This record gives sequence, C-alpha cells and structure tokens, in this order.
Amino acid sequence: MIVFENVEYVYPNGFKALRGVNLEIESGEIVALMGENGAGKTTLLKHLNGLLKPFSGRVLVDGVDTRRTTVASLSRKVGIVFQNAEEMFFSPTIYEEIAFALNNFRYPEDVIQKRVGWALKFMELEEYRDKSPFLLSGGEKKRLALAIILAWSPEVVALDEPTVGQDILQKEKMIQIIRQANQQGKTIIISSHDVEFIADIKPRIILMSKGRIVKDGPAEEVLTDIPLLQECSLLPPQIVSLTSRLDFLGIRPKLAGPEEIAVEIARRLK
Ligand SMILES: Nc1ncnc2c1ncn2[C@@H]1O[C@H](COP(=O)(O)OP(=O)(O)OP(=O)(O)O)[C@@H](O)[C@H]1O
Ligand SMILES: [Mg+2]
Repeated sequence: MIVFENVEYVYPNGFKALRGVNLEIESGEIVALMGENGAGKTTLLKHLNGLLKPFSGRVLVDGVDTRRTTVASLSRKVGIVFQNAEEMFFSPTIYEEIAFALNNFRYPEDVIQKRVGWALKFMELEEYRDKSPFLLSGGEKKRLALAIILAWSPEVVALDEPTVGQDILQKEKMIQIIRQANQQGKTIIISSHDVEFIADIKPRIILMSKGRIVKDGPAEEVLTDIPLLQECSLLPPQIVSLTSRLDFLGIRPKLAGPEEIAVEIARRLK
C-alpha cells in the first residue's frame, strides 16, 4: 500500500529531517511511528498524502508516485489527523467542517448529511454540531479532526499524536476506533510518544531517531528493548520496567501481565 524508497527530505531552511527512509506498509496493517521529539515522524506522515514530496528517493501510495499526483487525489486514499488539530479547521460550524471535504469530493447532499451525522455520533460531538470548531476543548478538537477524516472513509488513516489531551475514557475509545477501522480493512498509521497506549494496541512499531528508522518490529520486541528506547528518549511501558526489574531479582513470571506478576509475587511471599 505504501512504499518509501530511500526518502530524504530537506526543509527550506536546509534542515535534513528524513535521512534515507526505507519502508513498506501493507494494506490492513496497524503501524506505530515512535521516536524522540524532532525524530521526523510528522515529516514522514506528511509524505503520505503528498503534502511534502521527497527531496530524493520516492514515495508510492497504492503504486502511485506522490510526485506525479495531487494532494487532493491522494487525500481520498490517505486521511491524516494532524498533531495540531486546529490546523485543519476553518469552517464556522462543526457540521460544515466535517461536510467540507465531502462536498469537495462531490458526494450527493443526502450522502453528506448521512456521513456527517454518523461521524458526529461516532465521535460523540452531536451536541456541538452548530458550534464553532475553535470553541471546542483540546480533546474535543482532536475528536473533531478524526471525525472529519473518518467521514470520508479513506483506506489509510494516519493519526499524529492522537492521545495528547485525551482523558482515559477517550483513550480507550480511541483504541476501539482504531481496532474497528482496522477490522473494516483500513490501514492505520499512528505517530505517538504514548508507550502505554501503543503497548495496549500492540502494533508493528517503527522506531525513528534523527531522521532515520532505527528499528522496525513487533511491539513485543521493540517495547522491551529498554536501551534502544532510552536512546530514542522513550521510557518503556511500566509493565516492561517492572518485569525487567523482577527478572533482575530472579522472579520473572513467564507470561508478564499485571495479573501474572501479582500471582507470582504472592506465591513467593507465601
Ligand atoms: N517547517 C520546518 N522548517 C524547518 N525545520 C522543520 C520544519 N518542520 C519541522 N522541522 C524540523 O524537522 C525535524 C523533524 O520534525 P518533525 O515534526 O517531523 O518531528 P517529530 O518526530 O514529529 O517530533 P514531535 O515528536 O515533536 O512531534 C525537527 O528537528 C524539526 O525541528
Ligand atoms: Mg510530530
């Protein structure tokens, strides 16, 4: 679905934000991009719908070179929910904000109404439909940004730091939405620092540092590589820190979830 071939990206001020990125994402995968501030995660995401074009190398989306097509046409396939949700807003009401892209894609009016209605309900924003997007709380703005994208149902949904500003209930809801969208066949790409959130999803993880991919593997492998996580300014999930301490003390339960650890410790204390 998505291929990066030796992609380099240099910002106009000369800063090299991507330094030879090679990457393949299959249709239907859930992938998390992780790494320190400034690692290049957002820059990479912006290549998915052609907002940024590679300085050298190439990006293919469904076989199409992003340099040979438009952002508008790529956006039908790849919807990006930005880190700063406000960047996406300009309409006077939330209803119009969600309807805007659907109008652009020339959906008939009855379909637009149905889809906007569904998205408002799904993201629990119905009561705000006639309110200005700018008056929402930080967490609600994130939900609106996601509602805008889900309404036009792109094959690939990219989420840039989706949990920032979300309370625990909304985080759990976010996980459900991600799973649900994935079950419907959508490819999901999440950029995040939130190791606990990512540990719950257990996706393939692509770890980035200073414009390069430093590790690409299953969550179980990447999130337990404590030295590597530290190099990328990430703390391991708490459960991983705990298991690794216990391991050091010689009490490592085979299956390390909170339940198993508690049972093992209780057994030893007896
Ligand atoms: N418009 C720009 N002009 C110049 N440099 C930029 C620009 N946007 C980003 N950068 C730089 O490119 C690097 C990568 O930025 P990017 O936003 O992709 O990082 P990130 O991994 O998403 O970080 P964060 O975790 O903070 O969101 C950073 O060093 C940043 O300062
Ligand atoms: Mg970013």
